[in-house]
Amino acid sequence: MVIRKVGVVGCGLMGSGIAQVSAQAGFPTVVREINAGALEKGLGSIRRFLQGGVDKGKMTAESMQQTLGKLEGTTEIAKLADCDLVVEAATENLDLKRELLGALDSALKPDAIVASNTSSLSITELGTFTKRPERVLGLHFFNPVPLMKLVEVVRTVRTSDEALEAVNQWCVAIGKTVVNCGDSTGFVVNRLLVPYMLDAIRVFEQGLASRDDIDNAMKLGCGYPMGPLFLTDYVGLDTTYSIAGIMFEEFKEPRFAAPPLLKRMVLAGRRSRGVGASGSGGSRAGFRFRGGGAHPPGMAVLRALRLRSRAGRRRRIQPRDRARDRRAARRRAGILAGRVRGIRAARGAARAGRRSLRRVRRDRTGGRRERRGDRHRAPWGRRRAASRRDHSSRPPVPGRRPARSAGRRSRRSGEAVGMSTSCIT
Ligand code: 3HC
Repeated sequence: MVIRKVGVVGCGLMGSGIAQVSAQAGFPTVVREINAGALEKGLGSIRRFLQGGVDKGKMTAESMQQTLGKLEGTTEIAKLADCDLVVEAATENLDLKRELLGALDSALKPDAIVASNTSSLSITELGTFTKRPERVLGLHFFNPVPLMKLVEVVRTVRTSDEALEAVNQWCVAIGKTVVNCGDSTGFVVNRLLVPYMLDAIRVFEQGLASRDDIDNAMKLGCGYPMGPLFLTDYVGLDTTYSIAGIMFEEFKEPRFAAPPLLKRMVLAGRRSRGVGASGSGGSRAGFRFRGGGAHPPGMAVLRALRLRSRAGRRRRIQPRDRARDRRAARRRAGILAGRVRGIRAARGAARAGRRSLRRVRRDRTGGRRERRGDRHRAPWGRRRAASRRDHSSRPPVPGRRPARSAGRRSRRSGEAVGMSTSCIT
């Protein structure tokens, strides 16, 4: 079988790129979007990329027009009926793909091949949504599709050799290098790449380094074209989160679990670059794109969550805590009452003897000039005064060496051994 006409479902970040490279290679290509607005947005991004190529001298204006001439946009699935290969590049949502693949199966000619650009869902499972599982396979492109050379071609146990061969040939014809692999979640690239990106977020979340330093470390230390945080923004925070969820569900390995910071950024609507033509809103702010902070935003978020959880604990007070609190409150009230009584007594004595209040206090403290802390304590705070012992006159405890005899003396006393001196070994 030879592929002559191609259909692409979805004209977002990946779909538009796939449609572009297909048309650029001379294949008549129909690209379908859910509505006219999303379609125009996707086709607009293709036009801009091609114009960028013309401006850079990578292609001529004529070949740009030829490419655009091979492209047809539509919002109807029926327009894909005569395609030999249809690449599904919709959002990573199993229910959505089930519905879409069912509709494609009914609309396409019987020998058409259906490929999914999924990065993590099971191709075998996607095949069960059609009546042609032997003609279903995975075609995993990389972002930005026109510049990235690789395509992972994924076959299932049911994919026919004929379908695989036809798709491999088409990939070569559009200028890509093929890596054939089996149907395992994440295939080859994402199995290795996703834990790396998630680990970079964890490093950032823990405050080990700033976002720029993390990215520079991997760019300059390992020669990667992009740092991992920039790459996560580039792939899209929601896409990365969704892939991580699917991979964690499959393998149950902690390295695939999305870090809390990524989850919160996605929940807060920060999707970054991955907001494609068919993206459902969200902000373009990410780790490094527009509005991403240089230092871990996670710190503030996690601190706020901890505070909230502490407040929550306070609300759920146990009965024994209440009793303890009541006892503490009574004790505080008693101390306060004692202080008030003391102040009143001192004032009374001063009035009676026509002595100054300070004098009365001095008498009560045994002639010692009253210290600030003593004001409400001595002499009526008897309990406190009694506990204030002269430790220097305390008899040594048998078996315990006095602190000074341990040899830890200050520089001034002649023996330079202390916490901040170099003699500590
Ligand atoms: N038309 C034609 N050529 C163009 C072009 C255009 N509109 N725009 C750029 N180019 C060319 C440039 O001329 C240049 O070509 P040259 O090497 O011959 O000079 C080349 O493309 C690189 O372009 P730039 O110099 O403008 O940009 P950079 O050097 O910064 O490279 C990049 C950009 C290729 C995106 C590079 O940063 C990169 O490789 N990043 C890593 C991307 C990556 O890892 N992607 C995979 C993501 S994972 C994924 O998608 C899977 C998913 O499931 C998660």
